[in-house]
Amino acid sequence: MSRFDDLFAAARAARANAHARYSGFAVGAALLTRDGRIFAGCNVENASFPEGWCAETSALGAMVSAGGQPGDVVEVVVTADAALCTPCGGCRQRLAEFAGEETPVHVCDTKGLRRTLTLSELLPARFVLKDEERDL
Ligand code: THU
Repeated sequence: MSRFDDLFAAARAARANAHARYSGFAVGAALLTRDGRIFAGCNVENASFPEGWCAETSALGAMVSAGGQPGDVVEVVVTADAALCTPCGGCRQRLAEFAGEETPVHVCDTKGLRRTLTLSELLPARFVLKDEERDL
């Protein structure tokens, strides 16, 4: 069962803490794990611009720090004040490390859902290091 409402609330709360003083573009993300836990994160920018990181990456870091493993992410919410804040390329690959091809990624504005895409729609043919891990 989708936990969209809980995920959206967690992503919104994380977004409120975004450190986005350089872009002014605050983002929140939340992940649901298969054992029912929710981890959220915001973007964290830096005076040296490339050193900042995305909300999705913060949320994944929180999950992994609490013991999250590949395959654990079953649902994702991203929220920003934009028509369609889809995850960046790097975050798609990072999400793919811990989610499945059919994992829904709910892309939201500040009020609610704009569009849901699966991870394989966002990132077809993800990079895998070992051939045996590729679903051919
Ligand atoms: N950003 C995210 O946190 N997630 C996304 O899905 C897209 C972009 C951040 C990175 C940067 O801090 C700001 O948004 C503008 O690019």
